[in-house]
Amino acid sequence: MQDSKLKVIGPIEDLRHVSYLTRKISFKGQTTSALIFLFNGQAYSYVNHCMHMHRPLNCEQDAIFDDTGKYLRCSMHGFIFDPTTGECQSPVCLGQRLQALRLQQHDGILYFAEKHLTPID
Ligand code: FES
Repeated sequence: MQDSKLKVIGPIEDLRHVSYLTRKISFKGQTTSALIFLFNGQAYSYVNHCMHMHRPLNCEQDAIFDDTGKYLRCSMHGFIFDPTTGECQSPVCLGQRLQALRLQQHDGILYFAEKHLTPID
C-alpha cells in the first residue's frame, strides 16, 4: 500500500464476529482509542470519546450499542448516537458529534485513512 495516510486495522472479516473493536491510537497529538464496527454492513470508526463528560463509550460496560442495536450508547450516562454520523441524539448534547475517523478497504483489509492518526501497538 503506497498511500502513507493509510494505517492497517486488520481484515474486515474480523468485524463480522464481534460487536466492535478498539485500537489504541494517537490522533492529532492525543493518545486515545478508536471504536471500529459494522453497521448495516458498512464499517465505521469514531474516536472513543463521549463529549458529555469525556469518557470512553465503553467505560462502564463492554458494549457500545443500545439494546435496540440501532444507536451507539455511552455506558456512562446512556447518551445515544447515530452510528452512521456520530451525532448525539440525547438532549444535553443534541447535535454534537463523535469524532469520525475515515476508513478505506482494500482487498478485504480495513485501514484508517487519516493523516494525523498513528496506531499505538
Ligand atoms: S460521559 Fe457519555 S453520556 Fe455522560
